[in-house]
Amino acid sequence: MSAGADGGGVVAAARSRRASPVEGGFVPSALGTREHWDAVYEKELQMFQEYGDTGEIWFGKESINRLIRWIQKHKIPLDASVLDIGTGNGVFLVELAKLGFCNITGIDYSPSAIQLSRSIIEKEGLPNIKLKVEDFLNLSTKLSGFHICIDKGTFDAISLNPDSAAEKRKQYVKSLSGVLKVKGFFLITSCNWTKEELLDEFCEGFELFEELPTPTFSFGGRSGNSVTSLVLQKT
Ligand SMILES: C[S@@+](CC[C@H](N)C(=O)[O-])C[C@H]1O[C@@H](n2cnc3c(N)ncnc32)[C@H](O)[C@@H]1O
Repeated sequence: MSAGADGGGVVAAARSRRASPVEGGFVPSALGTREHWDAVYEKELQMFQEYGDTGEIWFGKESINRLIRWIQKHKIPLDASVLDIGTGNGVFLVELAKLGFCNITGIDYSPSAIQLSRSIIEKEGLPNIKLKVEDFLNLSTKLSGFHICIDKGTFDAISLNPDSAAEKRKQYVKSLSGVLKVKGFFLITSCNWTKEELLDEFCEGFELFEELPTPTFSFGGRSGNSVTSLVLQKT
């Protein structure tokens, strides 16, 4: 699978990924498990080794461009520390490194995702990207003081965990508070949560800084956004 723009295909795929809500969360799904992501990235690693395909960019290339436009608009310095939570194939970090960002870190709990990111980064010949296998809900190392944290689809995945997802969402907010500097920014892109729901999830210790425009769709006389993209600031 390769990435597309934030147009029809990817948006349709994102929309179809929208999980079914139940009270206080979503119907649990395999997408919330490490086994699922290990299998996904093992396959993608094999595709990369065989064909050089970097694999899926969650929400499409436009979702990366949207974040980069925000980073550039706000003149975030090139030495700002950035953490990509659940980096997957690490392609967001690759784009940041190409722009000259030199203090960037990607974590993922799937060793095959980190192996894939490492292979892509090596092929691109980009130094200065730190990668680590880490469960964001149970961090083994002291990660802290980041200026910016990015989440593209990871909070969505965690929300689908079959085993006490509500607790895991709470732990996510705690971990985020621990790694982000005061006044630091958290850029989240989600296909399962609306703006209001995300503000509610992150109401303790975070406030809305900006909502980033995302594509809209119309269906049956109603229109909406398939993806929510917010910038929150740690208070
Ligand atoms: C939907 S994918 C998004 C990948 C990447 N951010 C992107 O935009 O292409 C979700 C990612 O979150 C990772 N993930 C899920 N739960 C995690 C956790 N507790 N700690 C670290 N990574 C996690 C998965 O392994 C997967 O790489």
